[in-house]
Amino acid sequence: MKLDLVQEINSDIELVFLDSKSLKKHKKYTTFKKAGFEADQDAICFLHESQLIACGIECNNNDNIRAAASTAIKALKQANYSSVSLDISKENLQAVVEGIILGGYEYNRYKSEPKKSKLKNFYLTSSDIKNLQDEFEKAVIIAEATCFTRDIVNTTPEDLNPPSFADLAKKLSKENKLSCEILGEAALKDEKMESMLAVGRASRHETQLIHLTYKPKKKAKKVVSLIGKGLTYDSGGLSLKPSTSMVTMKMDKAGACAVLGMIKAASELKVDVEVHAFIGAVENMPGGDAYKPDDIVVTRSGITVEVRNTDAEGRLVLCDVLDYAQDKVNPDYIFDFATLTGACMVALGQYTTGIMGHSDSLKRKLEKSAQNSGELVGTLPFNNHLKTLLKSGIADISNVGSKPFGGAITAGLFLDKFIKKENKNKWLHFDIAGSAYTETPWDCNVYGGTGAGVRMITDFLKNIK
Ligand code: BES
Ligand code: ZN
Ligand code: ZN
Repeated sequence: MKLDLVQEINSDIELVFLDSKSLKKHKKYTTFKKAGFEADQDAICFLHESQLIACGIECNNNDNIRAAASTAIKALKQANYSSVSLDISKENLQAVVEGIILGGYEYNRYKSEPKKSKLKNFYLTSSDIKNLQDEFEKAVIIAEATCFTRDIVNTTPEDLNPPSFADLAKKLSKENKLSCEILGEAALKDEKMESMLAVGRASRHETQLIHLTYKPKKKAKKVVSLIGKGLTYDSGGLSLKPSTSMVTMKMDKAGACAVLGMIKAASELKVDVEVHAFIGAVENMPGGDAYKPDDIVVTRSGITVEVRNTDAEGRLVLCDVLDYAQDKVNPDYIFDFATLTGACMVALGQYTTGIMGHSDSLKRKLEKSAQNSGELVGTLPFNNHLKTLLKSGIADISNVGSKPFGGAITAGLFLDKFIKKENKNKWLHFDIAGSAYTETPWDCNVYGGTGAGVRMITDFLKNIK
């Protein structure tokens, strides 16, 4: 399906969003009434004779519009029309584009006979398209970068393993003119990244560190480092996950996939920010060569970690990647993205990304970006008492908390141990364990990867001063 912005068009059907007030004023009010349509949020009503489809909205705001556009596109894809038009305004343009592209997203790589839809053209109409063109193109870039992230998350662990992840990053770097550096196991050994290497040791796929850089043509206003957890599969390792928790663990690479989507969007939007993406691509497997509970790993920073649970592997990868990233680049902001803890979902629910860090003002900025872009975030507060749960009797720190409470925060505090003093207020940790993947559709998310983080960070990068 093609999405275009046009001045005027004769389409097979017209889409309108109506709340209870605008419904009453609509010229087809009585027909809608007869059909039982009350403009409830996400309610769909086709008036085939009038070539009209309405989708209800509780009131006119971008969150409701985005959800309604997602519902409408799904209904339209199942109907018999080949073109649809929707009159839009500048205020709701981005929400509409996201609703259509993200709500209409399908991942068909593994379907031998994907369902075919008759819908070929979606026209957004406005009398003022000159003024909207730029905004429209930007919205499409952001939505498509989110779909790009979803595609990678949805790819199976057989097709998307650390080396093929590195290949994919190389391909993106060529297409988008980014610089690209890949470190395989020999180079990681030279870098003394023993913690990250330990996690990947029992896998038949070689562990990879990926570093992509986008530099704007103009002088960069700011430099941002984005770090992603890229567990292409998390079986738990020797601390093996129960079989039901293991299903979906291909999504443990979602942080890395999000970071790729972010740098893709940043380079296509040509933001005036230098962006670095650092990805630790690793597979966590059991096996004769696997790292074990009771092992002590020496991280790149020199800090020693007692491994008490091989399923708390994300932090063992991130600590080395964070340390490497801080040595290679001196940025204004350091953000890491990781499907790090089930505890984050317990704390905030499965829709919300957990934000942790030391700078309240930076957290407020990212909350604002989330709000602008329709992502859900919640902050989880650090405190020094929870830090004591990470004490180890034999090494500098343990990789898991000693009590089953505050698990998202203790994971964040573990990472904090590897953030250099001068970077404490530049750093935020985003736990996307719940928000990165869904098996039931919600908002503009459909089954599978959601692309959590991409829209929020793109908004942040776009508005950097
Ligand atoms: N990848 C998981 C976290 C996760 C769980 C992501 C569910 C998405 C959905 C992570 O590596 C993990 O297994 N964490 C453990 C930590 C525990 C051993 C301290 C967890 O959350 O149970
Ligand atoms: Zn794990
Ligand atoms: Zn994991």
